[in-house]
Amino acid sequence: MFKLNKKLLISISAAAALSLGLSACMENATPGSSTPKEADIDGGVSYPVVNGKTGPYYVNTKAHTGAVKFGRTPTKAEYDEWNSDIMPDGTGLPEGEGTAEEGSDIYDEKCVMCHGDFGSGGGGYPSLSKGNAYELHETLTNQRIKPDTDGPVRVFGTYWPQASTLWWYIKDAMPHPMTDSLTDDEVYSLVAFILNANEMKIDGEEVDDEYVLNREKFLKIKMPNRDGFVPKIDGPNGPDNIRKFFANPDNFGAQKYDVNHPASRCMHNCQETTAKVVYIQGAGISDFHPPLSEVRDLPKEENKGFSAEKAYTESCAMCHGADGMGAPVLGNKAEWAAVTSKGINKVYSNGIHGINGMPPKGGSDLSDNDFKSIVDYMINKSK
Ligand code: HEC
Ligand code: HEC
Repeated sequence: MFKLNKKLLISISAAAALSLGLSACMENATPGSSTPKEADIDGGVSYPVVNGKTGPYYVNTKAHTGAVKFGRTPTKAEYDEWNSDIMPDGTGLPEGEGTAEEGSDIYDEKCVMCHGDFGSGGGGYPSLSKGNAYELHETLTNQRIKPDTDGPVRVFGTYWPQASTLWWYIKDAMPHPMTDSLTDDEVYSLVAFILNANEMKIDGEEVDDEYVLNREKFLKIKMPNRDGFVPKIDGPNGPDNIRKFFANPDNFGAQKYDVNHPASRCMHNCQETTAKVVYIQGAGISDFHPPLSEVRDLPKEENKGFSAEKAYTESCAMCHGADGMGAPVLGNKAEWAAVTSKGINKVYSNGIHGINGMPPKGGSDLSDNDFKSIVDYMINKSK
């Protein structure tokens, strides 16, 4: 169950981000080397983490103050409007009723353009059904190991552990362009329609067109995949289960969760796991060690590899290398003496901003400092 409440949802995604970060660290670590990589093959940036290993996130060693520096505090009315929690045990679920037939009409008016006929999905929008939820639930163990094997079907009926999430999601988030606009009865009707499209039963009874779904019947829905998730975050033991799960570093970045054999992804010279120092308060992760970075800029550019001579050849020689282009020629003492007689700052400035046939920075995207060091190089070569 992954949508217990909003706070938790955010925490879990933060944990997911963290575990992703950690596994990426493992991938990025250069075996046998202790120096951080400066740029990834795909052009991404790697930041130093620890022990010469790198990761995709800047690690801020300074604890954050807890202040978020954007937006404003919502008004009480705004907060209350969005503060709806609809729990598997029925907490927050209002009374109301509707049939799949009524739901079908609302669906055709407000949902079909994105989610397709009978929730078939497509065009980038999620499917709400792929057919009989009980039969397709079995596909969740399918691995796509051969091109002709079907992968797991993950839609509401087959995959979601709790129906309350569906009610809550539709009420709070759909239809996409007009969230929170449906009445409770409309939501019951739409839920009945989606149960119908997933060929689901409540208490052994098929949810057909006329089936009147209400709060009482809704709470009897048993999702086929209700036991399919680890850790178990429902019920009174939920917080403890979460704590235990995240306290075990083997659960981070593991390919496969197996209590007896926590699989580890990294086989050689790996990032030491830091997950063991994540701790959890209440039902959500509220603190991170090391703290998540607040820094939003890229790491300082280091110019160790810069060579004025090389840059000159690449960006300037085509005009400054030979007579006839109107540019002072490299090595021509008289021409460069005339140039430098204006004073070096003027020369830099003319070069950076361009003058006559000299395009700004010679048409390159060099930094000012790099440009100036090429000018110095040219002047030195022309003394
Ligand atoms: C303009 C397009 C659009 C319309 C109209 C729309 N939805 Fe959605 N719906 C989306 C998108 C996009 C997502 C995925 C959102 C995400 O994952 O962040 C989504 C997700 C969902 C989900 C969750 C599916 C899943 O497996 O994660 C449900 C359920 C759902 N919509 C129901 C409805 C219902 C019921 C209506 C009509 C009242 C509706 N939607 C109207 C675009 C739309
Ligand atoms: C497209 C041709 C071209 C390229 C490429 C070019 N230059 Fe020039 N550069 C000129 C010309 C023409 C002049 C003479 C401008 C004038 O004073 O009329 C000039 C003049 C200069 C001057 C003298 C400015 C002054 O104050 O008189 C400097 C310094 C200079 N270039 C540096 C560079 C550097 C460094 C590069 C490479 C990053 C570069 N140029 C690339 C054409 C070029």
